[in-house]
Amino acid sequence: MFKFNWLKGLVLALLLPAVARADEGMWLPLLVKRLNQADMQKKGLRLTAEEIYDVNNASLKDAIGQLGGFCTGEFVSGQGLLLTNHHCGYDAIQSHSTPQNNLLQNGFFAATKTDELKNPGLYVDVLVRMEDVTGKVLEGITPQTPEATRVATVQQRQRELAAAAKDNGQYVAYVRDFFGGNEYYLFVYQRFGDVRLVGAPPEAVGKFGGDTDNWMWPRHTGDFSMFRVYADQNNKPTAGYQEGNQPYVPKKHLPVSLQGVSEGDFSMVFGFPGRTQRFLPAAGLQMTLEQSNPARIKLRDTRLKLWKEDMDRDPALRLQYASKYANIANYWKYYIGQNEGMKRLKTVDQKKAEEAALQQWIAQDATRTEQYGKVLTDIDQAYAGLREYNLSSQYVNEAAFGTEIITLAARMLPLYNALKGDGKTPADPAAAKKAAEDLREPVAEYFKDYSAATDKKVFAALMGLYMQDVPKEQLPEVFQLVQKQYGGSMQKYADYVFAGSFLTSKAKVDAFLAAPTLAKLEADPGFKTYQSVYQNYVQNILPKMQGLQAGLLRANRLYVAALREKNAPKVYSPDANSTLRLSYGTVRAYKGRDAVNYNYFTTAQGILEKQDNSNPEFVVPAKEEQLLAGKDYGRYADKDGTLHVGFITDNDITGGNSGSPVINGRGELIGLAFDGNWEAMTGDLAYDPELKRCINADIRYVLWCIDKLGGAKHIVDEMTIVDRGPNPNASVAAPGGAEVPAKMKVKTKQKGKEAAPAK
Ligand code: ARG
Repeated sequence: MFKFNWLKGLVLALLLPAVARADEGMWLPLLVKRLNQADMQKKGLRLTAEEIYDVNNASLKDAIGQLGGFCTGEFVSGQGLLLTNHHCGYDAIQSHSTPQNNLLQNGFFAATKTDELKNPGLYVDVLVRMEDVTGKVLEGITPQTPEATRVATVQQRQRELAAAAKDNGQYVAYVRDFFGGNEYYLFVYQRFGDVRLVGAPPEAVGKFGGDTDNWMWPRHTGDFSMFRVYADQNNKPTAGYQEGNQPYVPKKHLPVSLQGVSEGDFSMVFGFPGRTQRFLPAAGLQMTLEQSNPARIKLRDTRLKLWKEDMDRDPALRLQYASKYANIANYWKYYIGQNEGMKRLKTVDQKKAEEAALQQWIAQDATRTEQYGKVLTDIDQAYAGLREYNLSSQYVNEAAFGTEIITLAARMLPLYNALKGDGKTPADPAAAKKAAEDLREPVAEYFKDYSAATDKKVFAALMGLYMQDVPKEQLPEVFQLVQKQYGGSMQKYADYVFAGSFLTSKAKVDAFLAAPTLAKLEADPGFKTYQSVYQNYVQNILPKMQGLQAGLLRANRLYVAALREKNAPKVYSPDANSTLRLSYGTVRAYKGRDAVNYNYFTTAQGILEKQDNSNPEFVVPAKEEQLLAGKDYGRYADKDGTLHVGFITDNDITGGNSGSPVINGRGELIGLAFDGNWEAMTGDLAYDPELKRCINADIRYVLWCIDKLGGAKHIVDEMTIVDRGPNPNASVAAPGGAEVPAKMKVKTKQKGKEAAPAK
């Protein structure tokens, strides 16, 4: 630990202006002008804050969309072409794949727009505007306002503000809380519901390295896929696919740079980070480390092994379970890395030290003591209580809902309520009919990728662990049946459930939906199991946790407020919450551990070095091998003559940022963010500037995959490619001493539009 020099600390605090530093921070675009612009320009940004975020004129934000609520995509042509990650498009790609026509395996590039593939349910949200509504939400609320009144008032105002902003259903709008409920912002989006698949490389490129390389650098993955957003004749969004829709013309699309990156270059990432918990108190970190993560890892480990056994046996099943497997495996490895990292970096101890310092600061002053004096003990007490129920909640999520039959049963709930009446309202045959109708499509989709035999194994194993690991008095009633009638054997109980339940086959579910009755649903052993688990949770576990969480909400809000007050003028960036953010930094190598220094980029050479055609994760398709062996890189080669595949920056990102554009100082696309690195897996809980890196696909490799490997040059031609030639930074002295950049070639296929010029 560095010694604290109080005099130096004081002087520094007085001298530092209230500006944010780069590296850590997922900044709100609205505040970039005030908080970040100066620092960004110093780092190499040549744009103004208005060129990044402007409500009245086209700005970078108009080129960014949130894909399906879980990823980010960016417009790269004036015809709605949207670039994102392969792992973001994975589910869509898989849904269009069969063993006979395996787009996932072979890759796919639509030859014409009519070949693009519809994806019901998938949407893209593009931000119209955001607004600080803290004043409106918190008006009249004081520290004396009773907590319950505060919560109700705040929720009511959030709803009202959002409803007004929706403007008769024209927009999607919501108010999110920031800094633990100390600030509130309104977000207004256009939601485009007609999103078609344009292309993806073979899985061997898009997921090269598989789960082995996942969350790790150095990386050689071409993690990209492409969609096209469609709109109606007036360029307005439609709720879903609509005949006669046209490619959406975005207000702004990103020019694509062929220039490549050097260490120290400015980089920014614009996207929709999902969730970070950087203000999580030590007790929360400890619960994650000791309880939540080990449970998740154990249960996912079990599920993945069972799935894999069957996937390895049966190619059709491999395809059916590919997307589910990838999703579960992704966060399985994340939790492992997070726990390893927390131990290695002593994250809990660090937080404890921070809290001790905070407590001391609070105690120094009577007003602070009155406001914040009890905050840290309140937090610790709430977590002590939560720890008693946390396992139950983890096992409901990861064990019970880790089986597919339980998730299908859960989907029957609206139908069940309509058939039964919920105590207040009587049974409603019309509502039941509609609920049954609404289930048709999801049920068909569900069974397309379902194996009852596989699910039965998973059920026996996961429910067995649930029964074994969770405190006895918190178990659902159904486990008593397992004890009494099946001698405690979850395997025997699984045999009974899967033999008797109609939830195991599409034909049986369809037959039920054609003539649904309460008696049949209530008698179904699959549904009964779900009901027992769910009701136990809702009646016995949740109320206890909710009481504790309500107290925690208040304590957290005060904790964050105290922390910000203590450390002013440090500017904190808010935790990620699936709203549009900007992060900026530079291209930057790192030292992974003692004696291990990682370069900041990878090349195609590394693909061939990792190639192992006997290992599905490291197969290199024959065509790619041939092109790479012949060094056929075309204009996508770096100035060093090689093909760069990936690079790293110190941009602060997290899940949800996947697919985000990496943008250079001129506002041009240089890469696609797709992952984080193993050494910094604690990043969502605590940011380490020396270790945390953002892993990106080099945009030139992406273009190479489309053009050379995929033979789809027409798609590249749609983009605005910026090629400054071999020596872009060479300057010639102009009369009067001003510098003029060397010759710049800008190629664009768009009539009447020029690519953004250098500033
Ligand atoms: N770790 C990446 C993310 O969360 C996902 C990478 C997907 N690849 C995989 N092998 N599962 O964004």
